[in-house]
Amino acid sequence: MNILLLGSGGREHAFAWKMAQSPRCSKLYVAPGNAGTALEAENVAFAVDDFERIGAFCVEKKIELVVVGPEVPLVKGIRDYFESRSELKTILLVGPGKLGAQLEGSKDFSKQFMLRNGVPTAAARTFFANQYNEAAHYIDLSQPPIVLKADGLAAGKGVIITSDKEEAKRTIREMLEEKKFGEASSKVLIEQFLDGIECSVFVLTDGSDYVILPEAKDYKRIGDGDTGPNTGGMGSVSPVVFANAAFMKKVEDKVVKPTIAGLRKENIPYKGFIFIGLMNVKGEPYVIEYNARMGDPETQSVLSRIKSDLVDLLCACASGKMKDVTIEVDANCALTIVMASGGYPDNFQKGHAITGTEAAHNAKVFHAGTKILNGTLVNDGGRVFGITGTGATLKEAQENAYAAAKAIHWSGAYFRKDIGNDVLNLDKN
Ligand code: AMP
Ligand code: GLY
Repeated sequence: MNILLLGSGGREHAFAWKMAQSPRCSKLYVAPGNAGTALEAENVAFAVDDFERIGAFCVEKKIELVVVGPEVPLVKGIRDYFESRSELKTILLVGPGKLGAQLEGSKDFSKQFMLRNGVPTAAARTFFANQYNEAAHYIDLSQPPIVLKADGLAAGKGVIITSDKEEAKRTIREMLEEKKFGEASSKVLIEQFLDGIECSVFVLTDGSDYVILPEAKDYKRIGDGDTGPNTGGMGSVSPVVFANAAFMKKVEDKVVKPTIAGLRKENIPYKGFIFIGLMNVKGEPYVIEYNARMGDPETQSVLSRIKSDLVDLLCACASGKMKDVTIEVDANCALTIVMASGGYPDNFQKGHAITGTEAAHNAKVFHAGTKILNGTLVNDGGRVFGITGTGATLKEAQENAYAAAKAIHWSGAYFRKDIGNDVLNLDKN
């Protein structure tokens, strides 16, 4: 079949790499893609939210399956667009409609959904633009640390955690009254702080049946030892040692099943991924957030451990046949190191020539912010590569990933030196 994948990050390179291995994939296009997706598929130069261009392309190229990588086209309603047009509505599409994507697009919507459906989560209250005084009073009465969350999409920057109540009040005023995150912060949640270890669980569902993909943990801060500002993610590991069978059973029973049942009960059709960010608080799972897509760089590690044909799974999802499929997971471990441009997540320079990507052994170089400029591979974004090492143990996966990352060079290249160390230490204890 002819397939179109939307997106341009490391996640999409991993999707393209895995889908291209399927015997069912005859032609794969990626829009807009990067220099890595061009190695697996044909890049086509249009934006992920240019629905008219995407629709016309699907008709012209007889696309049978569309896979949506990032959240923006989902929240903007790409599924609703396809379903509303006779020439597009029979095309299989992986990703929820506008309503289902609100699980990610609005923290208030997802919090109320969890509370209505008995999904364990932190207690929270929502404040609106004209409610600064109430919010400040609530902060005075709260036990720090204080967690503030902008309601809407804020590219991973909308969560502020502080133990300083005055800072919390200043921040919420900036969010509510000065629209620090634009419309995204016209509503703000103040949430109970959850003390525990994080991991992420990924579900592929057709709204009734589901499979649970391998779990992963990502590393959000820029610096070693989880220091410095938040980023899109600087690395990932899978499996996660504390997500043992007993914990995953609790996740399935207390989180996954009530989530799917809630979608059905509330008549929210959902064909796509649900990425569940969890806090393990003394062995009990609490949901921090839902996303309506896969994670980046979690996907690079997760897909490296899936043995099943990904196109089979995606078609089953989009055609409502999840009950007919199972997922086969590799016992191997995977670890991904993100290599970033110097200065990321703030300002950084683009256009530096990159060498050493061909040297990787037992590791896969997934491209993110890269492009070919006059025949040379150059950095073209904040996060440039995800280097995924695999091995029988996490230690081996870590060694393979770091050996490959150390061989790649460009001016200003940066990566964390401690991806996986915390999980390896947990393993020892
Ligand atoms: P989010 O954008 O919802 O993923 O939040 C970003 C990060 O903030 C999460 O990955 C957690 O590390 C942290 N976080 C969010 N909510 C809470 C909470 N209620 N308690 C503790 N940490 C949190
Ligand atoms: N790595 C976190 C995310 O994709 O949202």
